[in-house]
Amino acid sequence: MTHIGLNRTVKPAAMAHPALTLDLPDDAATAALGARLGAAARPGDVIALYGDLGAGKTTLARALIRHLAGPETEAPSPTFTLVQTYQTPALAIWHFDLYRLEHPGEARELGLEEAVDGLALIEWPERLGRDLPAARLEVRLSFGGSGRIARLVDCDDWSTRIDGDWRPHQ
Ligand SMILES: Nc1ncnc2c1ncn2[C@@H]1O[C@H](COP(=O)(O)OP(=O)(O)OP(=O)(O)O)[C@@H](O)[C@H]1O
Ligand SMILES: [Mg+2]
Repeated sequence: MTHIGLNRTVKPAAMAHPALTLDLPDDAATAALGARLGAAARPGDVIALYGDLGAGKTTLARALIRHLAGPETEAPSPTFTLVQTYQTPALAIWHFDLYRLEHPGEARELGLEEAVDGLALIEWPERLGRDLPAARLEVRLSFGGSGRIARLVDCDDWSTRIDGDWRPHQ
């Protein structure tokens, strides 16, 4: 921060994260986005999957997991287990559903710290509060007609890996 005179303060411009908006007209489109993210994923990545109940977070995660672990892989929703792990040739995947998390500290017990050495897919990331890793891709799913809309917000370097018209996030 730069101080000018006595009372005026100039704040540095807020970091504008690159963002990409995609129409997902059906399940297959959500799955295709999952596969695309899976193809670009690297060890150490965190993908935060935001969206209301039924927005398509697990559909996307499942397709991503199958892209890396094989199409026959069963990828159940971690609704009750809170986490499911997968060892794939490229990296380990930790798929969290934190809807039922009681407090952020519980995520550490589930292995959040080990997860960030692999690929962490996190449904209901808002449950982590300040424990949500800062370097992450946010996938914000919302309802649009009979389909979904995905807004990708890049708080890492995903915009250099995924083709598309990334505009600064408003
Ligand atoms: N683009 C899409 N258009 C229409 N339906 C979709 C789309 N993507 C996913 N769905 C459907 O939405 C339903 C809910 O999906 P899913 O279970 O993935 O949601 P979720 O966000 O994980 O929900 P929860 O918060 O309960 O875990 C499924 O029936 C799925 O097939
Ligand atoms: Mg789900």
